[in-house]
Amino acid sequence: MDETRLIKPLLDKEYPTISHGDGIYLYDINGKKYIDGSSGAITAGIGHGVKEIIEEINKQAHKISFVYRSQFTSEPAEKLAKKLSELAKGGEYWSFFVNSGSEATETAMKIAIQHWQEKGIKGKNKILSRWMSYHGITIGALSMSGHTGRRARFVPLLEDYPTIQPPYCFRCPLHSTFPTCNHMCATELEHAINRIGSEHIAAFIAEPIIGAAGGAIVPPPGYYQVIKKICEKYDVLFIADEVMTGMGRTGKMFALEHWDTQADIITLGKGMSAGYTPIAATLVSEKVMEPIQKGSKLVMSGHTFSANPQSTAVALAVIDYIETHNLVENSMKNGNYLFKKLQELQHSHPIIGDVRGKGLMCGIEFVSDMITKFPFKKEIDLTSLVVTEGQKNGLLLYPAAAGIEGVGGDAVLVAPPLTITIAQIDELLEILDQTLTDVETELRNKGIIPLEENCD
Ligand SMILES: Cc1ncc(COP(=O)(O)O)c(C=O)c1O
Repeated sequence: MDETRLIKPLLDKEYPTISHGDGIYLYDINGKKYIDGSSGAITAGIGHGVKEIIEEINKQAHKISFVYRSQFTSEPAEKLAKKLSELAKGGEYWSFFVNSGSEATETAMKIAIQHWQEKGIKGKNKILSRWMSYHGITIGALSMSGHTGRRARFVPLLEDYPTIQPPYCFRCPLHSTFPTCNHMCATELEHAINRIGSEHIAAFIAEPIIGAAGGAIVPPPGYYQVIKKICEKYDVLFIADEVMTGMGRTGKMFALEHWDTQADIITLGKGMSAGYTPIAATLVSEKVMEPIQKGSKLVMSGHTFSANPQSTAVALAVIDYIETHNLVENSMKNGNYLFKKLQELQHSHPIIGDVRGKGLMCGIEFVSDMITKFPFKKEIDLTSLVVTEGQKNGLLLYPAAAGIEGVGGDAVLVAPPLTITIAQIDELLEILDQTLTDVETELRNKGIIPLEENCD
């Protein structure tokens, strides 16, 4: 390996060098072609190398790329804020632009706390969240995250915000079954609020569909309606972290629409610029903004690059592309096809325990035994085996946490660009099928799973 000074995810791993991208495909400098089966980190929603976006990048750069938000506003930033308010159903929203999903959730947390302070209620400083969740890597965002693996190294520095169990029906942590459970995992929030005291709680944050920490865990029907009711009853703001699920990824512009529920604060990132520039946003409802507008008139947050004209112009162009190419509808329609085909794949691959998701955000959870649902032993690192084999075969997948307590399990996200066609989904599935066959062969050769039974 050439000498490097770049800190990559694994310091002892060799990574291919990217050359270029085109639609759902990526090419490394050796000419190897990959299907971007995960849109990177569920980001490249409109695919790679889109001409219209490249033109917009140039157009805006020729005018102005950067101004400081306390000296100027800009047309693209104003337009983007208006556009997002229009897209978020059920009321008017204000936008605070930041550079990453972690900053968006951390800003959401701060605005929620400030909201209560400006109403003269000083003690509501705590945020509640779920186990098996991921809201970002900065200390505030990680405090809200119930991703045990990502928390582990920093536990002494973190707040204990993860409080309630995830809506993980495949392995219900409350040992119940939907619908007889009566949304027990949602009503747990009420018990938590009562135990802690609502006078201490500013907000509850949740990813509408759990991504990195769960592999596309979809809560049952009615779940968020129950959550919202409890939040309203106890004066707790509801923050929907749509950093991964937003901008059409799940077949609706915002995933919470599947539950016909509105959040007080929404966070966006990833698909909002589809990776063409770093930008994320915290959308704040009129209700949450009101006491701040009447009070200090200053939202205490901000970053040097917040609301810069370059990034906001790019995000506007990406949203325009999503709308003019009907990508939200495509996500729903082609997502249904992908989901059905993944379920069919389950019949021929004994290591697939569960297929879940909505739209083009699908998850596969792996098990060592289909009946008992036992996960593979940690040291096998099945997720890495699948992801590595996929990449070798020309298919990129996103590794997700899963399993009991989100600790001892394996899952991947299959979430290609929303532009993917049916023929391209078939191409993706062919490589995925081969990849799983290769992994199973390796597991059989090592005696980890039994040899195939002969039915003659
Ligand atoms: C739901 C959710 N929130 C927040 C984040 C953090 O975003 P970023 O990596 O851009 O900081 C992520 C990243 O995966 C995410 O999936």
